[in-house]
Amino acid sequence: MNEQDMATTVAEAYRTHFGEAPEVVTSAPGRVNLMGEHTDYNGGFVLPMALSGLGVAIAIGRGPTPGTIEAYSDTFHDSETRRIEESAAGKWSDYVLGALKARTAAEVAETGVRIALITTLPMGAGLSSSAALEVATLRAVSELYGKPMSPVDIAIEARAVENKFVGMPCGIMDQFASSVGEPAQALFLNTRTLEFEPAPSLAGHSFVIIHSGVSHQLTEDGYATRVAECNAACKALGVEMLSDLGVDDMPRIEAIDPPMSLRARHIVSDNQRAVDGLAALKSGDVQTFGQLMLGSHASQRDDFEITVPETDAIVEGAMAAGAVGARQTGGGFGGSIVALVPDDAVEAFGEAITKTLPATRILAVT
Ligand code: GLA
Repeated sequence: MNEQDMATTVAEAYRTHFGEAPEVVTSAPGRVNLMGEHTDYNGGFVLPMALSGLGVAIAIGRGPTPGTIEAYSDTFHDSETRRIEESAAGKWSDYVLGALKARTAAEVAETGVRIALITTLPMGAGLSSSAALEVATLRAVSELYGKPMSPVDIAIEARAVENKFVGMPCGIMDQFASSVGEPAQALFLNTRTLEFEPAPSLAGHSFVIIHSGVSHQLTEDGYATRVAECNAACKALGVEMLSDLGVDDMPRIEAIDPPMSLRARHIVSDNQRAVDGLAALKSGDVQTFGQLMLGSHASQRDDFEITVPETDAIVEGAMAAGAVGARQTGGGFGGSIVALVPDDAVEAFGEAITKTLPATRILAVT
């Protein structure tokens, strides 16, 4: 579904569900990350790409009951009613509620809001469905109440919703890619300074996103454990953030206790791969980019230990099916694989993967 179709569909869903037209309709994309995994909360570099046609669309209007949020997901045919003063409750509407509280709690307390949403992003696929929901809600509510926010501010607020409201200790990559990124264009981001630059694509090649069929749940222990291990590694190494270190520091990184040594080695090496990946995109060096993807996957598997047997098998299967490179993308523990494939081989590649690995699904080609 393209953006225009999403807007029409969500506006119609609002009208059908609430019996009147919405006041504002917005959307926000999901993202695929091409290089630099878990580097963002370590102050490092990332190379995500906002997706085209995979995202969240929101229709919003003032509601009849001050302080009450009526949220309706047309995709899941599910309604949740929340009060603006509520805390997070482990529900999908937490992302909406947190975003509404960020800058417009007073306005919602006075008017109430109604929200309808649709999503074309599979949940738990490692493609930032929650970031897209937060960014779309912030866009919608800032327009509804006439309180403009810049794309960078929206990314910062959306990350704060995750960190402070939902309790997910993520970095800023997903929200930044969704809010600031242009669909189908990679973006190189320094997560410490928030300096960013658009990155070119590789002529004659596409990124194919493959759902592994294993959904992750990042609020479960794995992600937070990695954040804690990275913090412990910083202490052991006497640095503020792991991105203070470079590949020249490997000997002293390898000298600290495992698993901290392994976690730090992944962050430092993947951070370098993000830098090298940008250079490869700029010089159109397809082979190097493919090798970096494979290196990144191996590092996620062996050092950061966030892959699962299914995603390891898909990376192998992707290479056997003609990819130039492939890696698990996103928070890990399942989710999606991104593979770099020559344009003229994409169709045969998709057929081969889904045939040999029946749990997989091609989500996008970009
Ligand atoms: C999740 C988080 C991001 C980032 C990735 C891993 O998507 O939300 O902040 O840490 O995992 O790179």
